[in-house]
Amino acid sequence: MVPKTLVSARVFVPVIAAAVLACAAPLAAADLSDTEIFQKVKTEAGQALFEAECRRCHATDPIDVSYGPPLEDIVGRAAGSYPDYDYSMALEASGIVWTPAALRAWMEDNDGFMPGTKMRHVGIEDRTVQDFILAYLVSITTRDGSEISE
Ligand code: HEC
Repeated sequence: MVPKTLVSARVFVPVIAAAVLACAAPLAAADLSDTEIFQKVKTEAGQALFEAECRRCHATDPIDVSYGPPLEDIVGRAAGSYPDYDYSMALEASGIVWTPAALRAWMEDNDGFMPGTKMRHVGIEDRTVQDFILAYLVSITTRDGSEISE
């Protein structure tokens, strides 16, 4: 017969291990302020959404030939300005700068916002989803934040 103490150890050791693991994540994040944690979570969620909604046409590696132009440094970039990318006339001649507001309008209804674009309609209307994707796009932008205005 298995001694009683062993039985309880078998039950409790995994429970304690799980509890320690559950505490480890908040402890690791303890150095960050709530705002920083929220920003990190938003950026990660935005990246996951970007992978699902945008990545198939927008590769990270500029050498990788993708259907759409690379979006690194997109926030604050002049529309249609990625070197050597074959833009539609509409985008090239638009004269706009990709501010957060313009990017939101683009995600919501790109072909309504800019008739004649060759990017297929994406239609992301949820403001929170837009915010998350925007947080990710800001995170892959190295331009000074002061140059980025709504
Ligand atoms: C089906 C392919 C496809 C998908 C999916 C897609 N795009 Fe695009 N995207 C394009 C193409 C093609 C262009 C170039 C459009 C043009 O020249 O009119 C473009 C252009 C852009 C531009 C303008 C870039 C510049 O240099 O001016 C932005 C910003 C952009 N896409 C963001 C997104 C975001 C954000 C998503 C996901 C929510 C997304 N795209 C999903 C194909 C796609």
